[in-house]
Amino acid sequence: MTTRVPTPLPTRDLHPASEADAPWWRDAVIYQIYPRSWADAAGDGVGDLAGITSRLTYLRDLGVDAVWLSPFYRSPQNDAGYDVSDHRDVDPAFGTLADADALIARAHELDLRVIVDLVPNHTSWEHEWFREALAAEPGGPERDRYMFRDGRGEDGELPPTDWLSNFGGGAWTRITEPDGSPGQWYLHLFDPSQPDLNWQNPEVRAHFEGILRFWLDRGVDGFRVDVAHGLVKKEGLPDYDRHPGGLLEVTHEAPYWDQDGVHEIYRGWRELLDSYGTPERIMCAEAWVAPADRLARYVRPDEYHQAFNFDFLETPWLAEPLRAVIAQSLAENDAVGAPATWVLSNHDVLRHASRFGLPQGAARPNGIGAGDPQPDAELGLRRARAATTLMLALPGSAYVYQGEELGLPEHTSLPDAVRQDPTWLRTGGLERGRDGCRVPMPWTKGARALGFNTTGAAWLPQPQSYADLAVDVQTGVEGSTLELYRSLLALRRLRGLGRGALAEVESLGEDVLGYVVTAPDGERTLVLVNLSDTPVELPEDATVLVASDDLDGRKVPTDTAVWATLG
Ligand code: NOJ
Repeated sequence: MTTRVPTPLPTRDLHPASEADAPWWRDAVIYQIYPRSWADAAGDGVGDLAGITSRLTYLRDLGVDAVWLSPFYRSPQNDAGYDVSDHRDVDPAFGTLADADALIARAHELDLRVIVDLVPNHTSWEHEWFREALAAEPGGPERDRYMFRDGRGEDGELPPTDWLSNFGGGAWTRITEPDGSPGQWYLHLFDPSQPDLNWQNPEVRAHFEGILRFWLDRGVDGFRVDVAHGLVKKEGLPDYDRHPGGLLEVTHEAPYWDQDGVHEIYRGWRELLDSYGTPERIMCAEAWVAPADRLARYVRPDEYHQAFNFDFLETPWLAEPLRAVIAQSLAENDAVGAPATWVLSNHDVLRHASRFGLPQGAARPNGIGAGDPQPDAELGLRRARAATTLMLALPGSAYVYQGEELGLPEHTSLPDAVRQDPTWLRTGGLERGRDGCRVPMPWTKGARALGFNTTGAAWLPQPQSYADLAVDVQTGVEGSTLELYRSLLALRRLRGLGRGALAEVESLGEDVLGYVVTAPDGERTLVLVNLSDTPVELPEDATVLVASDDLDGRKVPTDTAVWATLG
């Protein structure tokens, strides 16, 4: 049996086109670099800024518009740099401020914009403010920069609330006062080495405005904002007995997530960014917020430019939920005039080439170990390529995580002894953690550390499967995942897909997704994704532009996506 696409195409409008001259970020494709794992010029096994600069032409040739760099600031690296001890300095592991300046300058020469990470919810416990807080008396201004409280119970031996840390265990840690007595508790929604800041304190607000200006003055084009939904905690810090599990289950009913008070902070930041003129400096919210209309509040016209669409990332490889999440995301964003921000992978989740190879319906694990059920690598990659082909056709902005353009799978057999993610330690090994998606990039088959550096050192070992996926193996090879990404990115730009109007093709059957993207200049692109068990025949007037895998003549096989011209 073959599904035929009816002609003329019955369509339902989902989203209008943007202005042809809309600002750059409305349809930008932004490549996430995880600095410790991209390229290591120093050869010490940890990637660095000089390594990144030396390889930026790879990104120009890939065809992305911008890079987002995960944190490279001074940090004891208890949470891979998301524990910042000085936001205005580069950690020696990654280089120097001069290296950051050189990176920004080189990127701009190559027409790539640079987004840096801002981590405002917490600092490292090595931040000078936290040291001052520990040395100061309870109730003083030094403690008021953080969330210190007296404990409950007769001697304050119980934590102030029942809140849990996102990384496992309680969210409060008791300190010893300077006089040696058991003391107050401080809040950490993440690791104990990441004390939460008190955003009701004007000094904290002023401090972060200074950090924004520091990096804007060095030439960055924007910020990805860490835990954007967590900065403000509910007045009075009430208990919360429902405890949604971790980063991925977030509701504003929790007294520490998505509180209304966060929005005035972002309105202030938007004014600050806007004062830098054009090209516009942007901010993108990492806000694990549900439902979708709560997320849309972050991208109102005077707040964030973008907010990651994690609902899309979390949608299983099933047509109906994908169709629904695409329609809903566009509707919610259109209601506030914002672009949708598509994403399938990042440094916190299983790589999508592995995620889509897990059995449907099972909860997505936080990491996979050698003893756990393993993903079907071939199926996962096939679906991942189709999913990316779908994502890059959708109007709005999109983020690509380093290595996904090579089809890299998760490292699912890391020895436990090398794991570094605090979630692994804090859950007593219950969660394997996120190290498996953070393994160094393979650049050259046969080279030491697969070309990550010249010494062979690597802070996490690369799996054997990465050798055949190295950049040099895939470059120029028709049908490779790298060449698929290059084609998709080039065509997306050429055909104005990111700025296009989107209409859904109806009557294709439940398990086939179909869209027509109409660019601002009127050019139409048909997008078909076959999630059914039977092939789909392309309409007669369609000419294939790119396909995520081989077609069978004019038939689109299962788990394959196609872009085609019409008429
Ligand atoms: C989200 C970041 O992406 C993640 O890597 C980090 O562990 C937490 N925020 C805490 O900063």
